[in-house]
Amino acid sequence: MKMSSRARLGLLVGILAAAPLLSFASVAGASSQTPYQTGAANSGTPKSSTVVKGPGGSIVSYGNSAITYTVPSPALATLGQSLYLENCASCHGVNANGVPADGTSGAYPNLVGLGSATIDFWIESGRMPAANPRSVQAERRTPRLTHDQAVAIAAWINSLDPSYPAIPTPHLSGANVADGAALFALNCAACHTIEGDGDALAQGTYAPSLRNIPAAQVVEAIRTGPGNMPRFTGNLSDYQVRDIVAYVTEYLQHPKNPGGLGLGGLGPVAEGFVGLLIGVGLLALIGYWVGERQ
Ligand code: HEC
Ligand code: HEC
Repeated sequence: MKMSSRARLGLLVGILAAAPLLSFASVAGASSQTPYQTGAANSGTPKSSTVVKGPGGSIVSYGNSAITYTVPSPALATLGQSLYLENCASCHGVNANGVPADGTSGAYPNLVGLGSATIDFWIESGRMPAANPRSVQAERRTPRLTHDQAVAIAAWINSLDPSYPAIPTPHLSGANVADGAALFALNCAACHTIEGDGDALAQGTYAPSLRNIPAAQVVEAIRTGPGNMPRFTGNLSDYQVRDIVAYVTEYLQHPKNPGGLGLGGLGPVAEGFVGLLIGVGLLALIGYWVGERQ
């Protein structure tokens, strides 16, 4: 990850030019909770470099060297349905359409067509089954169900209307943490802060701390946009998502790791972005970036 001064300057100028556009694009995407769709290749849909199909032609997994997305096996659907009826149906309804048994439509969100990554994220982050369904924002808690149970429930809901993204496994070994830091500053820091500690948002909601979130859940959050978080689809490739996840899980969560990750200069860059956000220090930052390695 050694970069020439010129390359660093080019990257920085590119980031600065793209930032307002991209953040606008993400926020715009956040307001409409449409099903996950993007025409871009390698962005979490089966339009990926590798697509594995089963005997009947149904998709088993897809992705590339950065992230593999696995569709939960339809064989788990029967188990998943009984787990669902026990843990979820009282609120989301026996058909998972958000209509509870007393017929109150709209009281709880419809789960059909959300994609198994969404179901998995809400269960594995402990948000579901909900502790307090009237809270402004569901809280991360110790999960009530296991990973296998989450996958089984996702398999049943997915059998009602197969949808994407499927459940991700990131392959972090080839990640570029420095690129991840730049992408994080651009796409995530406004809400989660550059150090990933989280911050208050409007109307009693908040962007949570990103410490100690498993890598797969970071991908799920990015690709599915829980709650008030935007969903990042075509504007971030799976390679870029992997870089961000590496930054969140390898750097943010262990900021004092000595050496090994090639993080020289990351701290100053990250701090520089805070200056950028509050509108000062821009020129100093450029000077710093460009001058650093001479
Ligand atoms: C006590 C009621 C309750 C139970 C039980 C419950 N949920 Fe929820 N669920 C909610 C509410 C309310 C929301 C809306 C988000 C929030 O908490 O503010 C929600 C949101 C969700 C979402 C996000 C939907 C979206 O559009 O983003 C998913 C996915 C979900 N629930 C899945 C489940 C699953 C799976 C189970 C069973 C393991 C479950 N829920 C059990 C009340 C419940
Ligand atoms: C507009 C503000 C906003 C932006 C931008 C944003 N997030 Fe979030 N993020 C949130 C909110 C709000 C939540 C909590 C959602 C909920 O629980 O209802 C969240 C949740 C998360 C979670 C789950 C944490 C947990 O406690 O389980 C992760 C991981 C995450 N975000 C990562 C990211 C990454 C990585 C980016 C950049 C690609 C990003 N976020 C961009 C607002 C944002």
